[in-house]
Amino acid sequence: MKIFLDTANIEEVRLAAELGVIDGVTTNPTLIAREKEDFVETVKAICSIVDGPVSAEVTEADAPAMVEQARELYKIHDNVVIKIPITLDGLKATSELSQLEIPVNMTLIFSPNQALLAAKAGARYVSPFVGRLDDLSHDGVRIASECQDIISTYDYDTEVIAASIRHPLHVFQCAEAGIDIVTIPYKVLLGMVKHPLTDNGIDQFLKDWKSVKK
Ligand code: G3P
Repeated sequence: MKIFLDTANIEEVRLAAELGVIDGVTTNPTLIAREKEDFVETVKAICSIVDGPVSAEVTEADAPAMVEQARELYKIHDNVVIKIPITLDGLKATSELSQLEIPVNMTLIFSPNQALLAAKAGARYVSPFVGRLDDLSHDGVRIASECQDIISTYDYDTEVIAASIRHPLHVFQCAEAGIDIVTIPYKVLLGMVKHPLTDNGIDQFLKDWKSVKK
């Protein structure tokens, strides 16, 4: 399974990249706004750290404007993927961009039918939002897994990115369900590393090591 980092924080990208476990990065307008930095410079900086797909989202609502904005964003770096919300205009823009071989991550996916249409329009990635579905008492991982099943069954050239991941259990459940990619906040990555038995084990080994004759 590929793991992307879901952040626009350069320091988090740098720290996570050093671990050698990050395959790409996703951003969205909220994450960009949180950092109070220039959008284009942020995407450029992320691309200089991580050698993998970096999603940057359009903020236009109609298809021609989305395509124009996408073409500008794609000039930042070859690894840029254009994030586009699933709407009628979003589908139109995605199908046009896929003809131009500009990769699209179709976002704000909440149902398998939306994922199916995104794949048919030529989206390179589809992003079901697991946590936001859970918030509404739907089973987010199950819906992401249904998206994955449809895309795998028909062998679309599309990968599923489980987004809106809130905790390490979501990651494990997505891995168990065979989902292609999870995009995770930095704090979820830290939570995946940490285990109290690992900490206790290290403490005990170091304590015992002190009594070894050297
Ligand atoms: O990738 C989308 C993600 O950032 C949304 O997460 O926690 O705002 O639902 P959240």
